[in-house]
Amino acid sequence: MRVAIIGTGYVGLVSGACFAEFGFDVTCVDKDKGKIDRLLQGEMPIYEPGLDTLVAGNVKAGRLSFGTELKPAVAAADAVFIAVGTPSRRGDGHADLSYVYAAAKEIAEAMDGYTVVVTKSTVPVGTGREVERIIRETRPDADFDVASNPEFLREGAAIGDFMRPDRVVIGAESPRAQAVMRELYRPLFLIETPIVMTSLETSEMIKYAANTFLATKITFINEIADLCEKLGADVHDVAKGIGLDGRIGRKFLHPGPGYGGSCFPKDTLALVRTAQEAGSPLRIVETVVDINDRRKRQMADKIVAFMDGSVAGKTIAVLGVTFKPNTDDMRDAPSLVILPALIAAGATVRAYDPVGMEEAARHIEGVAWCEGAYEAMDGADAAVVLTEWNEFRGLSVERMKQSLARPVMIDLRNIYEPKDMAEAGFRYTCVGRPT
Ligand code: UGA
Repeated sequence: MRVAIIGTGYVGLVSGACFAEFGFDVTCVDKDKGKIDRLLQGEMPIYEPGLDTLVAGNVKAGRLSFGTELKPAVAAADAVFIAVGTPSRRGDGHADLSYVYAAAKEIAEAMDGYTVVVTKSTVPVGTGREVERIIRETRPDADFDVASNPEFLREGAAIGDFMRPDRVVIGAESPRAQAVMRELYRPLFLIETPIVMTSLETSEMIKYAANTFLATKITFINEIADLCEKLGADVHDVAKGIGLDGRIGRKFLHPGPGYGGSCFPKDTLALVRTAQEAGSPLRIVETVVDINDRRKRQMADKIVAFMDGSVAGKTIAVLGVTFKPNTDDMRDAPSLVILPALIAAGATVRAYDPVGMEEAARHIEGVAWCEGAYEAMDGADAAVVLTEWNEFRGLSVERMKQSLARPVMIDLRNIYEPKDMAEAGFRYTCVGRPT
């Protein structure tokens, strides 16, 4: 089985490396020559744990190659994955599909023999059908099927998610396409991974429904956390108490400063727009989008309020700026709203993040970037935890206290125990827990 992956971004690269690891012959194609050159030298364009080793191993074994030429890769392939970007279009929140459609046209021109063209990028319902139309229009004689195969990879855990998924969703309608897609995921049969085989439209809808449901779950617990704070309840125990009910489930009930990243904000907004246009609005998701947007600003207010109502002339140490740990991704990170708000309110911000600072510095101005957590805290009036990197969990409370000018901690990811912090003499607040 030969596979071509068009677009060597996050999804394309991880999927390509994992399919190669399954034993298939994979070519990853990207128009960005600089990116391909770096990949050929073993340099990863993104930070993803384990990816460099996986890529190196499969390149060495001759199963994974990179190139800028789409034509030969597609001509040789049994399955071609479209994994190009689908950014939010400015103004209307819809996904911009111009890259997907351009890829479909190029693929049509290059196809040779029966080919399954698979959309891997998150695309609005109906995109697969349009890709089908474009290919047929470009090459009326072509022997092909279009399939949808959404990914459910979390950044920072993508390889494990690909290799041990809860399920694989495939939108494929002809028996030939279904057979090719099943063959691609055959290595997962051994671990009895369920395969959900559906129509194109249903498969596309599953991806959006999954992401909007998870975003809703997070937003639900965030609001419950705020209420817990007012009423003296502990949101961690509430999350456990409800999550043990199998119908609810324990995951994605951790409160924080609001969801971010390249997927939830973009996908919730896109589905809201699609639903409005279809005349079947998703009012719950509309509210989720609104609450999450406001939440980031509210977190800046929470910090200011805890620092006696003003941060003017004060120094704040920020621990973590990426939208979550184990990634250098800054897209829609709460820090992008919170840090500028603190700076605008007159604070000096000293920040540290294990891998995200280079990227963050491109987006946030006026921050003093530090080499480590203790350095960021040196002489600061308060510390704020924005991302729950593991290395922050094990910081010595005593040393933090020595570094800070004042033992004040605003923990927006609930990584410390309120009791321990109080015992150590900290003025401590977190999200939804009594302190
Ligand atoms: C998400 C989904 O989890 C993946 O299944 C999906 O494939 C991906 O989007 C995508 O559509 O490509 P990702 O954005 O990498 O993956 O990150 P998550 O781990 O889901 O976290 C998203 C955001 O929710 C982060 O800001 C995180 O801090 C926040 N979150 C998550 C919480 O605030 N609380 C939680 O309990 C869980």
